[in-house]
Amino acid sequence: MTSSPLAELSTHVQDLLARVRGALTLSDLLADEPFIVGKRSILSSLQKSLGALAPEDRKEAGATLQEARRVVEEAFVERRRVLEALRRAQELEADRLDLGDVVVSQVRTPLAVGHPGIVAATQRELEDVFVAMGFTVSDGPEVESDWYNFEALNIPPAHPARGMWDTFYVDLGEPETVVLRTHTSPTQIHLMEEAVAAGTLPIHSVMPGRCYRRDTPDARHLAAFHQIEGLVVDRDITFADLAGVIETFTHAYFGADISSRLRPAFFPFTEPSAEFEITCTICRGDGCRTCSQTGWIELGGCGMLDPAVLEAVGIDGEQWSGFAFGFGIDRCAQMRHQIADMRALIDNDVRFLRQFS
Ligand code: PHE
Repeated sequence: MTSSPLAELSTHVQDLLARVRGALTLSDLLADEPFIVGKRSILSSLQKSLGALAPEDRKEAGATLQEARRVVEEAFVERRRVLEALRRAQELEADRLDLGDVVVSQVRTPLAVGHPGIVAATQRELEDVFVAMGFTVSDGPEVESDWYNFEALNIPPAHPARGMWDTFYVDLGEPETVVLRTHTSPTQIHLMEEAVAAGTLPIHSVMPGRCYRRDTPDARHLAAFHQIEGLVVDRDITFADLAGVIETFTHAYFGADISSRLRPAFFPFTEPSAEFEITCTICRGDGCRTCSQTGWIELGGCGMLDPAVLEAVGIDGEQWSGFAFGFGIDRCAQMRHQIADMRALIDNDVRFLRQFS
């Protein structure tokens, strides 16, 4: 009688189990899978050799081999589970890096509190600059009717100037009558209406707040952003007063070495109107990706109040005149801190945010 093909079976099984234990990573184990439990395993060749046995021996040998295979497969599956868990733990550990010490520091020192975000801090600084110049600070709603956001600002329905603001509409009332404000200018209208009703003209006020536009975010734009609006309604106000305020503000906030310039522009609610630009602080005027190679960054718009706006709120344009301006708070933060891409403000990466505590 020839020796049974299964004579060495227990040695083979021990070898295979050692091979399973010897795999230290999931990928090593999976690479070895065909040789341990797959087609290229010794167990598979033994299976084939059983064909040579006499039928009465075959059944018992088959059962023995089956049991051996079960032992090896079980060990394989268990090892795979352990190595998968290990890999997950390692992945979690790698992911933990960013937040790791924040979590730890919060656990160990419950007093470690956050700090105002860079935009909130910038807003406060801007308010301080204007308060020092004699302005009050007011705010208004973020959801506005079409009348406040557009019509009262001399932008009638379907006027082509509406294309200047890609608008989010709120599903309330008649279609396209309620909007997320596209700028802080509607707050001017609220302020003037209130001052007329209360008989408290003149007005010298700034109005910071969040605005929304259907813009694709890029290095200089966010779809939800912040503006600060300025409004002066008084007697004998001229464009020189406006230019003086803009210039004073630029130097107070950005420092003496940053220049500003006003360029003729169009806004339906001011006449004449201007765009207000400052030297790009990323490249200091040489031209870079952030300023689209122009060396200048547009902060906002301004101009003398259009008589149609004064009329819409019932202010006598013979007695009163004024100016308005509105510019981006996020843009100011970006220029002040030389942030090449504004999207960093909303990425929520603590390594970025911590620099501004
Ligand atoms: N509201 C204008 C804008 O966001 C800026 C602006 C404000 C222009 C006030 C003139 C006067 O585009």
